[in-house]
Amino acid sequence: MSHPAPSPRLVALLRERTPLLVLTGAGVSRESGIATFREAGGLWEGVDPAEVATPEAFARDPRRVWCFYDARRRQGAQASPNPAHRAIASLEETGRPFLLATQNVDGLHERAGSRAMVRLHGSLWRVRCTGCGDEWEDDRPAIDPLPPACACGAILRPAVVWFGEALPQQAFAQAQAMARRASLCLVVGTSAVVYPAAALPEAALAAGAYVVEINPEPTPLSPFASEVLAGPAGEILPALLEAAA
Ligand code: OAD
Repeated sequence: MSHPAPSPRLVALLRERTPLLVLTGAGVSRESGIATFREAGGLWEGVDPAEVATPEAFARDPRRVWCFYDARRRQGAQASPNPAHRAIASLEETGRPFLLATQNVDGLHERAGSRAMVRLHGSLWRVRCTGCGDEWEDDRPAIDPLPPACACGAILRPAVVWFGEALPQQAFAQAQAMARRASLCLVVGTSAVVYPAAALPEAALAAGAYVVEINPEPTPLSPFASEVLAGPAGEILPALLEAAA
């Protein structure tokens, strides 16, 4: 299947050594077999986020919330990075000022080699104690029993950001700073409806960046984007890199 060709302006911007911000959402992992949230068959189909992704839900029924995240851990453990994750990792290797801000918690960017990145919504592969506040990596694909407990006796929670919670302050500040200085911003596989992450491309546009959306479906950002490349990220991004090579 053929996809829209990148404009000469975009190819030129990719070749420059100017600051580049990449914002990703669940769509970048779609071709790795991980479900998105808001599409048909997505994680929020038939599941109310308020019942599995809020502090109130966790206080009410920690086991139910853990089961939701445990299923996602199992799925994540079986998935592998796809060409979109790898293309984003190689964009960082050009040595230009670069930041990847991801809303994803699946760890696939890290496994593809991305290092200059911030996780706006935390990680599936970290746990935090609800008592002592300690946080650490836990890469077991399945946790048993649920909910797991800390050595201090309190229960552990997934170290992800739930609805109603603040984003990790430093991660978001870094992303905001890059949005303000970037000359190019790639927005990949996000429905661009969840704030404050969705404010990053808006800030980049306001600061004069060339904002490119890569998504097979239109989003609320599409009418404002400098350029839209409609198609799957795993095909569009490698083609983009090739065009700019
Ligand atoms: P969504 O499920 O809202 O959006 C996924 C986007 O990916 C859609 O716009 C799809 O069209 C697009 N998409 C699907 N396949 C794609 C592909 N192969 N290549 C490129 N794009 C593709 O997911 P997010 O925008 O990530 O937050 O959702 C944002 C946040 O809402 C998530 O981090 C999560 C969720 O509720 C929390 O849990 C706090």
